[in-house]
Amino acid sequence: MALVSAEKMLKEARAGKYGVGAFNTNNLEWTQAILKGAQAMNAPVIIQTSMGAAKYMGGYKVCYDLVKDLIDSLGITVPVALHLDHGAYEDALQCIEVGYTSVMFDGSHLPFSENLEKAKDVVAKAHAKGVSVECEVGSIGGEEDGIIGAGELADPKECKIIADLGIDFLAAGIGNIHGAYPANWTGLSFETLGAIADITDGIPLVLHGGSGIPLDQVQKAISLGVSKINVNTECQEVFAAATRKYIEEGKDLKGKGFDPRKLLAPGTTAVTELVKERIGWFGSEGKA
Ligand code: 13P
Repeated sequence: MALVSAEKMLKEARAGKYGVGAFNTNNLEWTQAILKGAQAMNAPVIIQTSMGAAKYMGGYKVCYDLVKDLIDSLGITVPVALHLDHGAYEDALQCIEVGYTSVMFDGSHLPFSENLEKAKDVVAKAHAKGVSVECEVGSIGGEEDGIIGAGELADPKECKIIADLGIDFLAAGIGNIHGAYPANWTGLSFETLGAIADITDGIPLVLHGGSGIPLDQVQKAISLGVSKINVNTECQEVFAAATRKYIEEGKDLKGKGFDPRKLLAPGTTAVTELVKERIGWFGSEGKA
């Protein structure tokens, strides 16, 4: 199946009260792992690259070609969107040109008027090519690829203004944080999420920082309007743990165990298993 925009899959998720997993990729193995996990669960999926990961992989065109070609060669039939995660304005425009089917323009660190102005322009250019757009209000806590958010609760009125630009889905700070949650984290603000959902006319909402949020909070967030859940750190953790185990057991020293195809296999399988488990959590199994 050809790459699709994330607009339809997230509208359906919002209406059906389930979440679509948006998993960050870093390389060939992770891209395969995510695609195989989604296919096994017969679930729609979003593969996303941060700006840093895309640079690491060789640029946006490489990411696009990789995902598109793997869909063909692996015989993937579930809907897959290729999304830019936390994109700067110029990067969002570049991805639209290259063939990404979805982009996030993250202007949350800009003055609100500038965020708004640039978001409007990204929407016009993206929609002209059938590309879906995510924007953000109220920065997400934590640090991701050099993007540092102080963590805040979004102002529902600002959410409404940006949603009314015609964006397809909205990321809003509701106490979520990228990376590990600190021991003194007080949980998601369902009051803020409810207020945002009430005022934004059914637009699918995005939960960033999906790693480490307990299942009950994830599912409550979905019931209140979250339709896209971003997961990155947990994939990194299971990949690293499985690779560490392989090496600590001395398997890289036995026979041709040092062959990268063997060395990276346990981590890759661990990512697939996590993707499957999270799709189960989000309720999108069988929704392809
Ligand atoms: P985590 O790394 O906390 O899963 O967050 C991922 C994310 O929100 C990507 O934008």
